[in-house]
Amino acid sequence: MSSSAQIGVTGLAVMGRNLARNFARNGYTVAVHNRTSARTHALVEEFGQEGTFIAAETAAEFVAALERPRRLVIMVKAGEPTDAVIREFAPLLEPGDMIIDGGNAHFADTRRRERELREQGLHFVGTGVSGGEEGALHGPSVMPGGSPESYATLGPMLEKISAKAADGTPCVTHCGPDGAGHFVKMVHNGIEYADMQLIAEAYHLLREVAGYSPARIADIFRTWNTGRLDSYLIEITAEVLSHVDAATGRPFVDVVQDQAEQKGTGRWTVQIALDLGVPVSGIAEAVFARSLSGHTALREASGGLPGPSAEPLGEADAAAFADKVEQALYASKIVSYTQGFHEIQAGSDEFGWNIDLGAVAAIWRGGCIIRAAFLDRIRAAYDTRADLPSLLSDKSFAEEIGAAQDDWRAVLVAATEQGVPTPGFSAALAYYDALRAARLPAALTQGQRDFFGAHTYRRTDRDGSFHTLWGGDRSEVTA
Ligand code: 6PG
Repeated sequence: MSSSAQIGVTGLAVMGRNLARNFARNGYTVAVHNRTSARTHALVEEFGQEGTFIAAETAAEFVAALERPRRLVIMVKAGEPTDAVIREFAPLLEPGDMIIDGGNAHFADTRRRERELREQGLHFVGTGVSGGEEGALHGPSVMPGGSPESYATLGPMLEKISAKAADGTPCVTHCGPDGAGHFVKMVHNGIEYADMQLIAEAYHLLREVAGYSPARIADIFRTWNTGRLDSYLIEITAEVLSHVDAATGRPFVDVVQDQAEQKGTGRWTVQIALDLGVPVSGIAEAVFARSLSGHTALREASGGLPGPSAEPLGEADAAAFADKVEQALYASKIVSYTQGFHEIQAGSDEFGWNIDLGAVAAIWRGGCIIRAAFLDRIRAAYDTRADLPSLLSDKSFAEEIGAAQDDWRAVLVAATEQGVPTPGFSAALAYYDALRAARLPAALTQGQRDFFGAHTYRRTDRDGSFHTLWGGDRSEVTA
């Protein structure tokens, strides 16, 4: 077998298969391999005419088919299956070769694997790939980490297969070394959870407070999708809401069990944010909302608890309310992205990655699940000022959120009065109000900590740490 493949893909479930096809369609010779070779042959049989594939039966054949330095993409389940594949292939590779992990791996695993393989002279490139199966085939958003040397040869290939933003820029950037790419992908997914939760809350309010049908709400989302909320998730929301179940003739959303599942990347975003001390309350509420929905026994046991009963709004009020929900959704979305970008900045500082936040916003403009017109403005905000303390300190976002706040509050008043849960909208508003507050009650918290644990506090008028002798004469001492 000649070593003519510029890239190889092992793990040919739907994402791996589509990624392999995408490379082939872009003119690369692609070696393909799967644990069970039936999948390898099926791919070549079905899609062989799309480009040049080399089907490899064994790991050794697969490695032999790759030109040097070898670029080997693994598309298997995160966790132990990824380690198993690395254990199988690493001994067959030579210094300078690259293993590219395109799965949703935890960035800490990626850091470990990168370190271990570096000792053997191999490059391990943890790469976030977003866009689902369609994206993998037609152009995903790609978030590679790993060494700059690996990006020098891999980058141009990834640029070719990636989605292109509206201005033609490829949706790929070298996020930073070792686990930076998988970290960025993790936060992408956290924001994805938050976006989905906020959209779900908007739908719930339009259904319960405005009294609209799913089909009518679908039309509202279609209208919103022509404005500043223009995004893939809003677009598919309209599709899902207008879908009618063929078996019952009822709206699809009414026949699906209301228990949201999760594979874990949103949860990781929150776990890591806790470690980094970054308040990602909107993302956390989105993860918790999914968990709560799945606690069926708890929900059944609580189903009889009292709540308000209100008639849906009349036609004119409902239309005005829908406009306010758009404001609340948009403002809450700004907060989710503010929190997500804060987490990326904190991760970058902690691990020394030097991530360019403007570049991250730029590569999320196309291909990925959270792609949205709005991301171009985030890119512009960071391009104007790379050290922007927060998205909310960007003048244009600050103005927009300020203009939305009255309606945002009114929506939450209506939600509270009518008993519609809005954890995402509420957490976002609480974050906004906390950030803009001149004084927070944290001073009282400090006083309590000092009272029961002599944990000390700092004063507003003098430097140093202080403790009050709470059990004695309440005089203050320098700690
Ligand atoms: C993407 C998606 C993708 C996957 C999510 C689903 O960017 O293409 O985020 O990675 O669909 O992991 O996550 P849940 O199953 O946790 O909702």
